[in-house]
Amino acid sequence: MSTTDAALDHSNHAFKGLIAHAQAYGFIYPSSEIYDGLQSIYDYGPYGVALKRNLQNFWWQSMTQLHENIVGIDAAIMMHPTTWKASGHIDGFTDPMVDNKDSQKRYRVDLLIEEHAMQLVAQGKSTQAKSLMEEMERCLATGNLPGLDELLERFAIVCPLSKTAHWTPVRQFNLMFSTQMGAQNDGTTIYLRPETAQGIFVNFLNVQKTARMKLPFGIAQVGKAFRNEIIARQFIFRMREFEQMEMQFFIQPGTEKKWFDYWQETRKDWYSSLGINQEKINIHPHKQLAHYATAAVDIEYAFPFGSKEVEGIHSRTDFDLKRHEHYAKKKLQYFDPDLKQHYTPYVIETSVGLDRLVLMLLDNALTKTDDPAKRTYLKLPAPLAPIKAAIFPLVKKDGLAERALALFNALKYDFPLIYEETQSIGKRYTRQDLIGTPYCITIDYQTLEDETVTVRERDSMAQYRMKIAETAGYLHAATHIKSLLLQLKT
Ligand code: GAP
Repeated sequence: MSTTDAALDHSNHAFKGLIAHAQAYGFIYPSSEIYDGLQSIYDYGPYGVALKRNLQNFWWQSMTQLHENIVGIDAAIMMHPTTWKASGHIDGFTDPMVDNKDSQKRYRVDLLIEEHAMQLVAQGKSTQAKSLMEEMERCLATGNLPGLDELLERFAIVCPLSKTAHWTPVRQFNLMFSTQMGAQNDGTTIYLRPETAQGIFVNFLNVQKTARMKLPFGIAQVGKAFRNEIIARQFIFRMREFEQMEMQFFIQPGTEKKWFDYWQETRKDWYSSLGINQEKINIHPHKQLAHYATAAVDIEYAFPFGSKEVEGIHSRTDFDLKRHEHYAKKKLQYFDPDLKQHYTPYVIETSVGLDRLVLMLLDNALTKTDDPAKRTYLKLPAPLAPIKAAIFPLVKKDGLAERALALFNALKYDFPLIYEETQSIGKRYTRQDLIGTPYCITIDYQTLEDETVTVRERDSMAQYRMKIAETAGYLHAATHIKSLLLQLKT
């Protein structure tokens, strides 16, 4: 096996291990699993949903609480269908697809070609791979579909299933899900939103007027988005139903460079506060821009399957507001009291996939030690951990269980906790390590004498004694979201 093959094999193995861990320990399950699942759709289990909510709260608070000029909304998933004509999604939100006539499987051409290029690199043919990628990017940028047909043929790219090159011509497929509103056969076709951003644009004036916002100001939103992704793979990285956290920052035209730089820095800072290994974060400027953007960067994370986008920062000019003005025939302008004039604001957008963040955090956190104990634990930042502390009586008898339950009942109003009294302490620690609980608190015989408990830390496994009365303050300081917020520059 070559070094490259070995590295790929190791990454595949690591990713499979991550998926297995997420499923086995209550983070993420395939959706409707008893019916064998639904491709690219996943459900969050008890620890997954808590982790996701904690991340969402951290993002929400970092946006709306730390910036006095950012407010939130929660717009509906279903919007007037003209929204998507105005946004360009009906005409332009497409991916080039190709079908293999033998396997009957459909593929996204760019991903098929990218995979072939990776195989060429693994075979030591880097120059060929580079020229393939460059030619593909040129074809994509100019919408040259016959050019993509030609690349498939010239590089003899075959279907991974049938191993044949019997391709249909490359075609564009729209990624929006549609449904009918009203009477089944006579209703209006509407779409499940493919991004949350448009709910913000159509509410721009509502928010500006009712919350009395002055430029520059932002509107933040968290919510579901839907895309009929054809390539279903990489677990929760690419889903058909997923969650976005988007913020549109409305600014005076001419200031977009300053604010684009500001948001890049602010968002980079947010990732370092998550304790992510910064070597795994990459800022990737776009060469090929979306139809609405004049500048864009991706924040990428080095997943086991490659460095991939988790967040996009886009300079969207006045594209969206102008398009909605045109289609809705309503003015969407801002009156600037300082300049005493009306204008259409420009927009800097930060757009992050919440599910991709969950995957990034799990990947970053899953730790296996090489020591004889061969410990596996999730090194999640304590403020994001699903459970903040587990409370154990050393044994059930002699009144220890009652004391442990009393502590559990006193702390449960402030912290998500687990109470466990069965199995050995070692097994109970292991179970908490696997779901990332940062602290385990044990009530033992000494507690009955001096009102102290043993606190055991997940990462260092250090144990120390603490007065029962100090546990609430200790957990608060170590596990509150505030400790993450305080790390951010504002
Ligand atoms: N409003 C701009 C926008 O939607 P995007 O780059 O298409 O931009 C933003 O999406 C983020 O949404 C991505 O960085 C990614 O984290 C997340 N995302 C996009 N498609 C996704 C999918 N199919 N599954 C999971 N997350 C996705």
